[in-house]
Order: sequence, then structure tokens, then C-alpha cells
Amino acid sequence: MSRLLIAAGNWKMHKTMEEASAYAEAFLPRMRMYRGLEIVVCPPFTALSVLQSAFRGTQVQLGAQNVHWEPQGAFTGEISVRMLQEFGCRYVIVGHSERRHIFRETSEEVGRKVKTLCVFGISPILCVGEKLEERDRGKTYEVVREQLQKGIAHLSPEEARNLVIAYEPVWAIGTGRAATPEDAEEVIRFIREELARAFNPHVAEYVRILYGGSVTPDNVFSFVVQKNIDGTLVGGASLDPSKFLSIVEETERAFIEKSKGA
Ligand code: 13P
Repeated sequence: MSRLLIAAGNWKMHKTMEEASAYAEAFLPRMRMYRGLEIVVCPPFTALSVLQSAFRGTQVQLGAQNVHWEPQGAFTGEISVRMLQEFGCRYVIVGHSERRHIFRETSEEVGRKVKTLCVFGISPILCVGEKLEERDRGKTYEVVREQLQKGIAHLSPEEARNLVIAYEPVWAIGTGRAATPEDAEEVIRFIREELARAFNPHVAEYVRILYGGSVTPDNVFSFVVQKNIDGTLVGGASLDPSKFLSIVEETERAFIEKSKGA
């Protein structure tokens, strides 16, 4: 088992073009080549262009934070997959809990977005995760299973190989209260088992599954070193170039650690 790890930053609604440019100027000169991992930055749509230029020829790949499921049409305010392809986006986050809970996106809509992205050869980063009251009621696995099943409902096993999944418990997002690595590993192992049931064991071994929720330079290693956790989706800490660089370094350290055991 040697899945490439991912250190992904979700900037959410932060950073103007000018701020994104300053970030790239601070981040890129301090980078070296990292083994065994991909680095992904998902800025707001308005900063894609400036970062496409800045990241060209580097190890950093671009992602977006949302997409519409239709390739074009009368959908005021929406962005299409082909528009994102123009910026070289390789990843798109879909079904983030902020989209599900603030903007009332349904799992069915998320499933349509996932399908469109896979058809166009872009990797969806499909987010799933339970709310605190669902966890307290012992519903974690039920909620995650439903979000996952609806999210992948339209995919063939071949398309599913493009998938990246992020387990982000809602109560851990932006709270400073991360899940324990053991709890995250257990839910992520469950997600992998569900993928094996939905597709086949080969797809389940292939798909990268990330943890997200209050990831920091100090705790990232403890997550990524887990057998089934293939990286992290980082919000707050990814906004600071020094912290994100440390997260990348720690992810490489976890890769090296995991390679020893492989
Ligand atoms: P924080 O890292 O700020 O908790 O956010 C996590 C997240 O929502 C990433 O998508």
C-alpha cells in the first residue's frame, strides 16, 4: 500500500488576490521537493488566476472550493467545471459542512457534483462528517455512511479512482478541538470498508482519505501516521504560510515513517 499523501489547504472565504500573491511569495521560496505527497491549495475563485501563475512549475497544485453539477447553463452565481479547468484546477472540494449546513446543500446535489467532476477528470474532495449532536446520539457511522453513499451514488468503479474523501467531523472544524487520531482512523477505516462494499477492494485501497478539523503543525503527524489516513484538509492553519509549510514537512515525515512499516 503506497498511496500518495495529500496536504491540502482550504482557504474558505479568505484572501484577496493581493493577499494570495503575498502568500505565494512567502511560501514558495521556502519549499523544497517533498517525497510521497501532493500539496494542494484551494483558494477562493477570485485568487485562482494569480495562483495558477505563481504555482506553475512547482509541487503545489490548485483546487477550488465548489462547482455546479451542470457543465453550463442559466445558474446565476455558479461556476462550471470547465471554468475551473481553465485555471488548471486538479481538485475541487464538494460537500463541505459549511456548504451543507449554511447553504443547505443536500447529499443528492453533492453526488451530482462528484459525478460531473469525475466525468471531467477532476478529483473531487468529497467531505463527510457528523455534527456534535449526531455524535452524542451515537449516529456517527450512520451519518457518514449516508453522506458517502449519496456522494458516490453515480460513480462507476473506474470513475471512483479519482475520488478523494475528507472526513471532517463538524464539531472539530474551526474549534481547536480536533478528533483523536485513533477516532479519526476508526471512522476512516469504516469509510474504506464502505468503498470496498460499494465498488471493490481495489478501489477502496486506491482512494485517498483525509482527516480535517483543527489540524495544526503540532497534531498533523499523529493523524497522517495512521494506517488509513492519507493526509489532511486544513482550514485555519493553512492561511499562514509558515504553518502550512510545517504541515507539509510533517506530512513528509509521516510518509517516511509509514514507508518503514510498509
Ligand atoms: P479548520 O482547520 O480551521 O478546523 O477547518 C477545517 C476545514 O473545514 C477544512 O476544510
